[in-house]
Amino acid sequence: MTEPAALDTGPAPGTGPAPVTDAETLRARVLASLTTARERTTLLTSCVEEPDLTAQHSPLMSPLVWDLAHIGNQEELWLLRAVAGREPMRPEIDGLYDAFEHSRAERPTLPLLPPAEARRYAAEVRGRVTDLLESADFEGTRLTEAGFAFGMIAQHEQQHDETMLITHQLRTGPQALTAPDPDPVPLFTGPAEVLVPGGPFTMGTSGEPWALDNERPAHRREVAAFHIDTTPVTNGAYQAFIEDGGYDQERWWTKPGWAHIREHGIHAPQFWRRDGGQWLRRRFGVTEVVPPEEPVLHVCWYEADAYARWAGRRLPTETEWEKAARFDPATGGSMRYPWGDAEPGPEHANLGQRHLRPAPAGSYPAGESPLGVRQLIGDVWEWTASDFLPYPGFRMFPYKEYSEVFFGPEYKVLRGGSFAVDAVACRGTFRNWDYPIRRQIFSGFRTARSAGAA
Ligand SMILES: [Fe+2]
Repeated sequence: MTEPAALDTGPAPGTGPAPVTDAETLRARVLASLTTARERTTLLTSCVEEPDLTAQHSPLMSPLVWDLAHIGNQEELWLLRAVAGREPMRPEIDGLYDAFEHSRAERPTLPLLPPAEARRYAAEVRGRVTDLLESADFEGTRLTEAGFAFGMIAQHEQQHDETMLITHQLRTGPQALTAPDPDPVPLFTGPAEVLVPGGPFTMGTSGEPWALDNERPAHRREVAAFHIDTTPVTNGAYQAFIEDGGYDQERWWTKPGWAHIREHGIHAPQFWRRDGGQWLRRRFGVTEVVPPEEPVLHVCWYEADAYARWAGRRLPTETEWEKAARFDPATGGSMRYPWGDAEPGPEHANLGQRHLRPAPAGSYPAGESPLGVRQLIGDVWEWTASDFLPYPGFRMFPYKEYSEVFFGPEYKVLRGGSFAVDAVACRGTFRNWDYPIRRQIFSGFRTARSAGAA
């Protein structure tokens, strides 16, 4: 397939982890979530020719064909072996697709399954899982309760789909993917920031059935009053930082951040280049003028932090971000999403690769929080000031390589998901993390200030 490819279905409604009570409903939800994920995987791996599937487009990324078979292998490990107790289908390939055994840089040198075989393997696993699902009762163990393992695997596939979309962004060559642009909106003229009141709030979750271990358990936190940007920081605002010499003034940068941008000659977000008096960017094989009203994308934590200092502000802590996203002042409780407990729909947020870019700042008024903060979910992952740490009472489940091995000061937390994240892997409690130098990811940010601070 050489024509640019697009997903012709939006995210399946109701495929997220809403509490459901009966096995039939749960079965339908699991099937819809797995199917949505596989449609996206198929799109991402059929829109380029074979050499593009087996090539490594960046040492930061796996060849696309590795992701494809790894998706199948994890599904086999967790659903056919761990849940159903089946024998391994192809034990000799387990090591090849163990993400902890081989670094991404090393993966192209492995004897990976060729594309046709990888597709066949993933399809065969899926066929057996679909059969298994017909008789699943979702009872008995923590792994199967409320369909957790199935939900975990649907999220895992969608997370790799996002990773593959990053690979597509890094790939050079003609456009392979296409999608309609988000609806245009009038220039946002609402208040630049919102006051979030101080006081206790409930962070994390204990009851969300498909929430992963690092989101648990729910616990109370005291938060001092703070102001947070109504929308993510835009390209236009970020350009003002660049034009003001932001990348040339050490005073805005942390010591490691300054060393990093000097060493790597960084002077603008990734994929940007200056062309005379304007900035251009490359986005999925297309070069275009940087749109000023769109949230800035492809900045690392150091850049986000430096911008915030230049603006006289700071990045929100992870706790502040979650309070802005979930706190309902009418009840004092925490909601699943900024707009309430309903599953994300296209009116709420830019999710699920429906678009291949963030929506303009101020979009999705139906998705704003009760306090009026917009675009917390979808569009761009938002860097927070916080290190990735376990919540009080954290219990690893079901494997330590999902979260536990990453806890510590090396990683910064990102929140809210991007246009490349599916609803099944996105909620007010969902936590992402990465190194502060990373910017090939779909990362942006918003800023905050303590109440009372100028
Ligand atoms: Fe994985």
